[in-house]
Amino acid sequence: METDEPETLGVAAVAAARYLTAGEVVALPAETVYGLAANAFDPVAVAKIFAVKERPDFDPLIVHVRNLEAVREIAMIPSEIEDVVLKLANAFWPGPLTLLLPKKPVIPDSVTSGLPTVAVRVPSHAVFRRVLKECRLPLAAPSANRFGRISPTTASAVVKELGGRIPLVLDGGACGEGVESTILRITRPPGSPKPVLEVVRAGPVTRELLKQFGIVKKGSREPRPDAPGQLQSHYAPTTPLRLLAEGEGFSPQPGKTYGLLSVDGEPGRLNLSDFAMVAVLSPGSGKLSEAAIRLFALLRQLDEAGLDEIIAESVAEQGVGVAIMDRLRKAAGRGGNGND
Ligand code: TXA
Ligand code: MG
Repeated sequence: METDEPETLGVAAVAAARYLTAGEVVALPAETVYGLAANAFDPVAVAKIFAVKERPDFDPLIVHVRNLEAVREIAMIPSEIEDVVLKLANAFWPGPLTLLLPKKPVIPDSVTSGLPTVAVRVPSHAVFRRVLKECRLPLAAPSANRFGRISPTTASAVVKELGGRIPLVLDGGACGEGVESTILRITRPPGSPKPVLEVVRAGPVTRELLKQFGIVKKGSREPRPDAPGQLQSHYAPTTPLRLLAEGEGFSPQPGKTYGLLSVDGEPGRLNLSDFAMVAVLSPGSGKLSEAAIRLFALLRQLDEAGLDEIIAESVAEQGVGVAIMDRLRKAAGRGGNGND
């Protein structure tokens, strides 16, 4: 006998698929963060994503599909990297890995902001997968926040960001990864025995996990000559955020209220009584994966607390800690890549 849960999921997924087929945008949970989805084949629907998010049209979208076969319908897999793409797909899909591949003409230029590549991934969240199955369309979906703000990891955060602007938010609970997917550009220089994996955005698929597949490098986004310097972040909390270096101390200014984003709740060199609010990234096991899951929700809470400044401790730059530090640097306005 079927339990209630899949049935409820089915009803909501059918409703979402109807909106999507009709050219509307809906918010869906992914395993990483909530996404704002639209039919990737339909330029009018895609334009709604940019309008709802207030996102500049030079910032391209990720397209989500059900499996590798569906990837081949929208993107080319060049022969010199096919072996590594298949290995990565086998290892990480469905899951939080996005690949930049040459796009096929079926994908409108507005999805890729005119770039010759399309960002593709196969999400693992059951709700997202169910919607993909119901609508049988590739879904363009950026994070469901207004441009420049914190990505939502719960349905209520989506409602705060986009409520009133979209017809449906599907609630699939809190996201299991908490930070956006890892984005890779893959090349194989002529004569090179190993492919080069350029990490364009750090995420849950870490450098440590990737290194068995090739030479891992820190990547950057393609410079956009038509939009110089556009994405110099501006992520974020509206409250100023200061990122402390490891072991750095802090002295409060009189009359100001501060919030602390603490790694594990241990004061270290800090004096906890200097802070009106202390949010702990990893109160449990002290693990980085727990910190990643909690990061955006805690940043939101701190931002809503009416503080003068948020002080954030650095986390160890290993594993998913690289992605956490990337997001914290952006939140502090020091990120190179901006926030979309
Ligand atoms: O986990 C995720 O990736 C989430 C969920 C919803 O899947 N999506 C997400 O999308 O984070 P968004 O739009 O917030 O971030 C997509 C990033 C942007 O930084 C964009 O510039 C980059 O992907 N991107 C997309 N297409 C690209 C391309 N063809 N070349 C280079 N960068 C690209
Ligand atoms: Mg985003």
